[in-house]
Amino acid sequence: MSQSTLTLSRLIAAFCILFASGFSAAAQEDRKNPLEGKPEAIEAGRQLYSNTCLFCHGANGLGARAPNLVEGLFRPKDGADDQIVFDIILKGRPNTLMGGFEGIYSEEEIWQVISYLRSEGIARASAGARPK
Ligand code: HEC
Repeated sequence: MSQSTLTLSRLIAAFCILFASGFSAAAQEDRKNPLEGKPEAIEAGRQLYSNTCLFCHGANGLGARAPNLVEGLFRPKDGADDQIVFDIILKGRPNTLMGGFEGIYSEEEIWQVISYLRSEGIARASAGARPK
């Protein structure tokens, strides 16, 4: 192997390591909603929710023929993390009325719905935080 080939393969190896670590950092960040707390996203999500999800999940995500999406399991802190909620909306729950929205809503739209649900959850949690 000539000196220059060696240098080149070292460079390629270094590049691969950088590239791979960049990827795992990106995968970590993917677990958070990139649109969390953004007022425009919450508003867009509210519209999507009203058009599509409200019929089963009830007004304000409080549950109807389908589970509550803003309290309990879905409370903002210590509840299901964003990625879990995202995957349920994308893929649905097999053999239930919950169909997946893959191909119907874009990733951005799914995050908008989650932004909306989280904002409702935060509103419920702070309303319920009053001492009895
Ligand atoms: C046709 C009725 C229907 C529609 C429309 C619907 N869902 Fe569901 N969804 C369900 C049912 C039923 C379940 C419970 C499935 C099960 O038993 O695991 C569910 C479960 C879920 C869950 C998991 C809840 C849990 O406690 O495990 C999430 C999150 C969810 N839906 C979000 C949405 C969102 C967001 C939309 C709109 C984009 C939507 N759903 C539209 C019926 C529906």
